[in-house]
Amino acid sequence: MSIYILGIESSCDDTSAAVLKDRRILSNVIANQDIHKSYGGVVPELASRAHQQNIIPVVEVALQKAKIQKNQLSAVAFTRGPGLLGSLLVGTSFAKAFALGLDIPIIEVNHLKAHILAHFVETENDKGHPAFPFLCLTVSGGHTQIVRVDSPSEMEILGKTIDDAAGEAFDKAAKIMGLPYPGGPEIDRLAQVGNPKAFSFPEPKIQGLNYSFSGLKTSFLYFLRDRLKEDEDFIEKNKADLSASIQDTIIRVLLSKLRRAARETGIGEVAIAGGVSANSGLRQQLTAMAQKEGWRVFIPDFQFTTDNAAMIAIAGYFKYLDKDFASQDIAPYAKGGFR
Ligand code: KG4
Ligand code: ZN
Repeated sequence: MSIYILGIESSCDDTSAAVLKDRRILSNVIANQDIHKSYGGVVPELASRAHQQNIIPVVEVALQKAKIQKNQLSAVAFTRGPGLLGSLLVGTSFAKAFALGLDIPIIEVNHLKAHILAHFVETENDKGHPAFPFLCLTVSGGHTQIVRVDSPSEMEILGKTIDDAAGEAFDKAAKIMGLPYPGGPEIDRLAQVGNPKAFSFPEPKIQGLNYSFSGLKTSFLYFLRDRLKEDEDFIEKNKADLSASIQDTIIRVLLSKLRRAARETGIGEVAIAGGVSANSGLRQQLTAMAQKEGWRVFIPDFQFTTDNAAMIAIAGYFKYLDKDFASQDIAPYAKGGFR
């Protein structure tokens, strides 16, 4: 018998609901919250209010698109954390009430593990999924990790950022240049017509497989402050080259540690996940590195890069197979990496 999982994601500023039939995607609906744009970042209180408005219609559309009735659902999977507590509470409370009404189990999902497991969602033009064990570079707005994945439930963090995340580095560099939020996609777009060798910024020197991005942000800020003294239009004139150069530096830092992790572990199955994995430069350079190093590389479809509920549903599916259900008194968590 098929397993139908409803996934709910509400950890940050996207309200999303998805339905899977076993590993196959039937729907994946995402409501973005434009309200944060005018503030230059996510405002937590506004995010939770928007989730409250969005969640019921988003779930209804996800069920309609999947062409299933809610009484066909086997379980409801929801993001328990990490994320914004108020936002997580909306998804968690909804999942509990919805499942209670249908008398089906609830499944708690860790957002970071879900980003990785998104590779196992089956789509129409499926390109297959990584074999265990594999390495995954998770790069999002809040996290940067190199993870060794031995099974859907066994994951080990080999390296992570000690300060800013890669997505934060993109967003902060964009903010310094006066680009709109979120800055990552803007830098990506401008970088495509810029010269990545136009400017050079110092790469952080961090031991082992860990990362650091806060120094890069500071040197970018000081560099621009000095240039603006000489020419107040410096940013405007060099936007594309600045974007290409900062993006290239971030990618070089990300990939050099990933290569080191692959060489140290001897693992040649390599994946990327998270919002920054949408970056076209990262996707190209990873593909080139994979060819050189002899890796089999897995790059997610764009719909699975930024926050989405299909990844929550697939993580829920694997837990469903293990009968790993949560109780109705479960509460969300804001902080902490893996749990
Ligand atoms: O995974 P995600 O949607 O949310 C978190 O869990 O944090 O990631 C959002 C991050 C933001 O920092 C955004 O600027 C970045 O992903 N991002 C990109 C691109 N698309 C999204 N960064 C660089 N290039 C992109 N194309
Ligand atoms: Zn995310």
